[in-house]
Amino acid sequence: MGRYNDVYRESIDNPEGFWGNVAEEITWQKKWDTVLDSSEAPFYRWFKGGEMNTCFNAVDRHVENGLGEQTAIIFDSPVTDTKEKISYRELRDRVAVFAGALRSQGVQKGDRVIIYMPMIPEAAVAMLACARLGAIHSVVFGGFAAHELAIRIDHAQPRVLITASGAIEGKKTLGYKPLVDEAINQSEYKPEKCIIFQRQFITSELIEGRDLVWQDIVKDAQPADCVPVLATDPLYILYTSGTTGMPKGVVRDNGGHAVALNWSMKNVYDVDAGDVFWAASDVGWVVGHSYIVYGPLLRGCTTIIYEGKPIGTPDAGAFWRVINEYGVKTLFTAPTAFRAIKKEDPNGELLKNYDLSCFEALYLAGERLDSDTYHWACDLLKKPVIDHWWQTETGWSIVANCRGIEEFPVKPGSPTKAVPGYNVRILNDEGKVLPAGQEGNIVVQLPLPPGTLASLWRNEDRFISSYMKQFPGYYETSDGGFIDDDGYVYVMGRMDDVINIAGHRLSTGAMEEVIATHPAIAECAVIGTDDQLKGQLPLGFFILKAGVADDPAEIQQELVKMVRAQIGPIACFRESTQVSRLPKTRSGKILRGTMRAIANGKEYRMPSTIDDPTSLDEITGSLKEMGYPRGA
Ligand code: COA
Ligand code: AMP
Repeated sequence: MGRYNDVYRESIDNPEGFWGNVAEEITWQKKWDTVLDSSEAPFYRWFKGGEMNTCFNAVDRHVENGLGEQTAIIFDSPVTDTKEKISYRELRDRVAVFAGALRSQGVQKGDRVIIYMPMIPEAAVAMLACARLGAIHSVVFGGFAAHELAIRIDHAQPRVLITASGAIEGKKTLGYKPLVDEAINQSEYKPEKCIIFQRQFITSELIEGRDLVWQDIVKDAQPADCVPVLATDPLYILYTSGTTGMPKGVVRDNGGHAVALNWSMKNVYDVDAGDVFWAASDVGWVVGHSYIVYGPLLRGCTTIIYEGKPIGTPDAGAFWRVINEYGVKTLFTAPTAFRAIKKEDPNGELLKNYDLSCFEALYLAGERLDSDTYHWACDLLKKPVIDHWWQTETGWSIVANCRGIEEFPVKPGSPTKAVPGYNVRILNDEGKVLPAGQEGNIVVQLPLPPGTLASLWRNEDRFISSYMKQFPGYYETSDGGFIDDDGYVYVMGRMDDVINIAGHRLSTGAMEEVIATHPAIAECAVIGTDDQLKGQLPLGFFILKAGVADDPAEIQQELVKMVRAQIGPIACFRESTQVSRLPKTRSGKILRGTMRAIANGKEYRMPSTIDDPTSLDEITGSLKEMGYPRGA
């Protein structure tokens, strides 16, 4: 028998002993007083009283331990034809100098800094520089529109905003600075300074008195040392989609985060110092925070910052080229990336041009792994293909095949078993634990392990109401699923109005809020429909106000523009249809779940609470006309 059962049991039966031992792998300025403080449950505090610095652990200590010349970051940008290797020593120096520059702009421990950057090394340098000073970064994904950035500026109230002049997204050159200017125009709170990294292919105009150029301010900056922070001090805020237009600001602490991520690299991904680990994602998402920046660097691995796509930059062999060129041991990406590669190169012809003998395993997460993609990747790579399930809130995996502890046979459709630290249960809506095989709400018994969300920024009430209220004593994941007799967890999908588009988490509620502002629209609903490439795509339904004679086709075009302008292109909102009414319960709640089932060709039971069963006929008819179900 392997080690998993023992490790798992120890983590659940004796979490303080377990994580107290694991925490010895991190360098502390001062040891903690208590491993786990539960006095304010459900707000748990890991390593209370401990002092450390995340940047020190991710960068400086490797230099002190003799890894200074090892490559910390490989930057590979097919879109700008740039390649660069940055050693740990060089990374330390660049981070220290940029931290010094930030400090000279007044940034101190506890201040917020928003980072809105493309996939360039300076994004990681900016994050680490904040961590070095004890400032709290909040990275915003570049595919969000100015309005979404403005919402985050108002909520996080950053002293400084860091951006770049632009990016090349696939084949398009995008200016980031105009978006930033527009966001600051829209926000009530104004950052004191904007720091702009000027890229060669696009130069930003500066606003005098507010804007500074990255390349100028680092010239005379004095390197800053690491500032010790409490383990329980926030390292970052990462906004993620909830069910409304107001995103949730997930707060991550310093100590628990460093302990958990460092442990996960070896135990979940089976990689260690010196290995090349590549998460093909974006620093704007949690995968980028945990597994492009912090996890690999805490462990002393080499990480890759890739400014490109799985296809089109230049072709569907891009991933194989990077793996081959840099000796990547483990790749982590979203299934949608593999679906895109499969679509372009179904027989994997391009793989034949590369030697992948260095490559050991593919990890996929961010959305449900469909069986076609799983089998295609297995057949092509002939290496383990590991599905694992997690969320922005948890920061690292809840369910995985922990190959560093014990590798289990894969059951397609399941991300395998609960990761040590997570006591996963299935509850019915009344909070009763369900037996093996029965589908219900996936929850995690409290306390959550270190590295998971400490709270929601400036919103403790929402932390309680979103995650802790419905099932007291448990964290509510909002995903549904079941556990089989062997302890394998099956994640079937979200139970709320959050959808996953190309591995990007978006809120249909937020899209509805935008559509509802159209002057001709009385009411609307947005649902997620299955899509063969992107997993899900949004679909809108709208009712026109009485007496409005506008052409619905024109309105549809306007809605596309509005969602793009307010939320961003990544919402991929392209389709909507006019209806005369929406199916509702007698209390007026729109039956989105039933509409979703019809659109996706799933069986559904006529809800007993439906106000008027005939209201589904029009929806069914419209969907049929549009060619739904289109199949996943
Ligand atoms: N900045 C600005 N715009 C961005 C952006 C960014 N960082 N990322 C995406 N966009 C834009 C795209 O240009 C596109 O705009 P368009 O409508 O004008 O064409 C839109 O947002 C949708 O982008 P995307 O969903 O990425 O679609 P795509 O057709 O360009 O690419 C895939 C499809 C599958 C190749 C791509 O989604 C992909 O690589 N997915 C991997 C998923 C991933 O890494 N997920 C992270 C979680 S692990
Ligand atoms: P995010 O917070 O962006 O990481 O999105 C989290 C959500 O993505 C989860 O709540 C799930 O709905 C979905 N998800 C992530 N990984 C998986 C997976 N391996 N299988 C099924 N769904 C997943």
